[in-house]
Amino acid sequence: MSSSIITVETKENSSQNLIIQPASGGISLGGRIRVPGDKSISHRALMLGAIAQGETQIQGLLLGEDPRSTAACFQAMGAEISPLNSELVTVKGIGLGNLQEPLEVLNAGNSGTTLRLMLGLLASHRGKFFTVTGDDSLRSRPMSRVVKPLQQMGAAIWGRKGNSLAPLAVQGQSLKPIHYHSPIASAQVKSCILLAGLLTEGKTTVTEPALSRDHSERMLKAFGANLTVDPDTHSVTVQGSAQLQGQNVIVPGDISSAAFWLIAGAIVPGSELVVENVGVNPTRTGILEALAMMGADIHRENEREVAGEPVADLRVRHSSLKSCTIAGDIIPRLIDEIPILAVAAVFAEGTTVIKDAEELRVKESDRIAVMAQQLNKMGAQVTELPDGMEITGGTPLVGTEVDSYTDHRIAMSLAIASLVTQGKTTIQRAEAASISYPNFVKTLETVCHQG
Ligand code: S3P
Repeated sequence: MSSSIITVETKENSSQNLIIQPASGGISLGGRIRVPGDKSISHRALMLGAIAQGETQIQGLLLGEDPRSTAACFQAMGAEISPLNSELVTVKGIGLGNLQEPLEVLNAGNSGTTLRLMLGLLASHRGKFFTVTGDDSLRSRPMSRVVKPLQQMGAAIWGRKGNSLAPLAVQGQSLKPIHYHSPIASAQVKSCILLAGLLTEGKTTVTEPALSRDHSERMLKAFGANLTVDPDTHSVTVQGSAQLQGQNVIVPGDISSAAFWLIAGAIVPGSELVVENVGVNPTRTGILEALAMMGADIHRENEREVAGEPVADLRVRHSSLKSCTIAGDIIPRLIDEIPILAVAAVFAEGTTVIKDAEELRVKESDRIAVMAQQLNKMGAQVTELPDGMEITGGTPLVGTEVDSYTDHRIAMSLAIASLVTQGKTTIQRAEAASISYPNFVKTLETVCHQG
């Protein structure tokens, strides 16, 4: 119990301050916990369930704000989805090509995955018209990365700033297949084109410069799509005009959410934690490799395969960390964990360099600028690079007011940093955590022990 360490203040505008003040005798973390369902897999299960024939049962769905946005969009286009108030959700699909023209603007909220993946489906629904938008953050994020390849397929899409920003309008067309060589390793780009390819006669191929997460490939195959993967060239080909069949999907715990506890356990002295049922798909485990390079004491237990995805329990014990360099092909395999990895680097001996991660500048916030500013406010030594950060560890942190910039991963990363900070840290707009981790504060209270 730790209520004196952790306080939540709700302001008049309903934004929340999360206040963390470690006890003077210090704290340690302990226990066995579970993290919510994987966000990427949750979006895909809802979307494929909606466009498949028959019923899809989803166990372990993430009940966060982002999957709620996906569910609302597909409900508006005719899919029947049971209320997102239990981790067991049923989707009655309407069959491939049958999304209905919505009467209202589709709102993807804060979710880039919802908007970008959905665009591939909308663009290929011939004769139907769609408008899509999102919140302040999403309306400032680049959409040309999916609009351009879709236009090469013949899509008709309009939007602000040369069709690159939402709100976007889409007039569905019959598309032609392409072989797209993506300039970035992005699962959102890859998945958007594959979904457009489902409704396009012929073979649509995407080649990416490095391997990004492959949940779409795994799930499309499980739903019956005709899909082939060439691992040597990082290419995926989908054959159009297939029908998909509803499936039972079991969503593993999100390694991106587990990462907060792995790093908390590694940096808070005296800690030992087990995070159960975590998805350890090799396209997502860059964080485990980076932490191993830093000397973290993390072990996989009870490794198994659940519904086509590898799963394990992860045990972490406190250890002293050392710096490392994180760059190149590992970046897409740990892209969402870089904010919390920066926190690990602040507590590591030496200078950690993170490079080739310019994608972080166009996530829910500019994660390079925001993490550098906020950690430096606490006394860390972080230098921004155009494509990453240089972090010299070992300077003690001091509590102050910091801001999440409404970015869920920044809010939670700063909360973990505050556990090893002298004095009181106030994290403003901490409610952002509910995008991917609605019970984050509750779990934090459960694992923190005084003294
Ligand atoms: C996601 C892919 C990643 C990741 C995002 C979720 C997905 O984005 O950052 O949180 O579910 O496909 P990019 O593919 O654009 O790198």
